[in-house]
Amino acid sequence: MMSGFHIKNNTLHVDQIAFSDIAKEHGTPTYIYSAAIIRDQYQALSSVMRDVLPDNRQPMICYACKANSNISILNVLKNMGCGLEIVSEGELFRGLKAGFDPAKIISTSFGKGRAEIIACITAGIRQFNIEAADEVDHINDISKEMGKTTQIVFRLNPNIAGGGHDKISTGRKEDKFGNSAEDIIKLYQKASELTHVNPIGLSVHIGSQVSTIESFRPAFEKLTELVKILRAAGHMVTCLDIGGGFPIIYNDEKLLDLRAYAEWVRDIIVPLETEIQMEPGRYLVGNAGVLLTKVEYVKQTPSRNFLVLDAGMNDLIRPTLYDAYHDIQPVTANTIDTDTYDIVGPICESGDIFTKGRTLTKMAKDDLVAIKSAGAYGFSMASTYNSRPLPSEILIDGNHASVIRKRQTLEDLIQGEAIPA
Ligand code: LLP
Repeated sequence: MMSGFHIKNNTLHVDQIAFSDIAKEHGTPTYIYSAAIIRDQYQALSSVMRDVLPDNRQPMICYACKANSNISILNVLKNMGCGLEIVSEGELFRGLKAGFDPAKIISTSFGKGRAEIIACITAGIRQFNIEAADEVDHINDISKEMGKTTQIVFRLNPNIAGGGHDKISTGRKEDKFGNSAEDIIKLYQKASELTHVNPIGLSVHIGSQVSTIESFRPAFEKLTELVKILRAAGHMVTCLDIGGGFPIIYNDEKLLDLRAYAEWVRDIIVPLETEIQMEPGRYLVGNAGVLLTKVEYVKQTPSRNFLVLDAGMNDLIRPTLYDAYHDIQPVTANTIDTDTYDIVGPICESGDIFTKGRTLTKMAKDDLVAIKSAGAYGFSMASTYNSRPLPSEILIDGNHASVIRKRQTLEDLIQGEAIPA
C-alpha cells in the first residue's frame, strides 16, 4: 500500500485517504500532515548518524519546533525518541504538553525574557544557548534566586553565509545571532567565575535550507578551533550543538548529502569527544505537510489570468516573505488542457501571491488545489490578517484522519477583545 502523498485514481491521496474526501469533511483551507513521512524523515536522519558516528557519539536530535509546533506533531516526534529545541515560553508549554522529557529540551531563544527563563528553569530543561553577554548575568541571577545552577552553551557566530535566502541566513557577522569567537572566550571565562551558571559548550547554526556541505565545514572548523582555545584556557567543553538547517526539496534544489554531512561530523566534531546535539526543523516536517485549498474564481484580466484560492498569505506566508517556491498541484486533473496562472489568495494586498505564471491543468471554480511542502513554517507562521480564522490541521496516521486543530470560528477571532464600557 502506498503511504505518503501520491496520486491514485487520478486524485491526490495521503496514505489511503483522498484529498477530496478530506475537503468534503473538513472544508478548506486545511493543513494536512502525514505522520508516516515525519517518522521516515526522523529515521532517515538518525539512521545515517547511527551508520556513520560511533555509538557513544550519537547526536541528540532536538526538533526545532518553530517549524511546526502543533502538539500532535510534537508528540509524533517525541515518540520517536526526539528531543526539542524551543525559542519561547509558548514552545516550552507546547513541548511539555506533548510529553517531552525536559532533560531533552534546549532553549535557543533570542532575547530571553525573565518569565521565560523562570519557566525553563522550573521545568528543568537541559540548557540555554546564549545569544548575548547580558543573558549570562540574567540567567545567573535568576538561577541564584531559584537556588539552581543552569547549564549554558555559547552560540558562535562563525561569519559564514549559509541559508537559502537572505532572511534565513543567520551566521554572518552582521546578523544578530551569536557572538564572535573573541567575545565567547571572554564570556566563557566570565561565566566560569559566576556561581549559578555552568558553561558546558558551544553551539552554531548558520541558517536554513543550507544545501552545500561546504557551508557546514568551515563552521565546524571554527567551532573546533574555539573548543581548543577554551580547553587550553582550562575550561570544560563537553557539549556541542551543531544546529539545523538541513534542506528539503521544494522545487529543484540540490539535497544535502546527509552521509557526507555525517562524515564531516565524524571527522571534525567527534574527535573533540563531546556530547553532540542537532536542531533540525524543516527537514523533519516540511515535506510531510500540504495546504489544501479550493479555487474560488478564475479571473481573467486583459493582462493576466488569476487563479483565486481560498487560502492566502495569512495561511502560508513563505511565498510572500521569502519569494519561496511551493509546488502547486491540482487534486484531480479534470482535463489534459493546461493554462498559465498567477495563483493568488483573497487578502487585500498585491503581495498575496503564491506564484506567477505557473502552468497547471485547466482549473475551474471549486476545484481543489494542494500547495505542497507546507509542513514547515506554514501553520506556525499563519495569522488571522484580514480577520480570517486560522485553518484547521489534520494529521493522517495509519489511514486515520484526526483533526489536530479545529478551524477557528468567528467567535475565536475576537476572543479576548472588549469594548470599554
Ligand atoms: N536552530 C536555530 C537556532 C534556528 O534559528 C533554526 C531556524 C533552526 C534550528 C531550524 O532550522 P531548519 O532546520 O528548520 O532550517 N521561516 C523560515 C525559516 C526560519 C528559520 C529560523 N530558525 C522559512 O520559512 O524558510
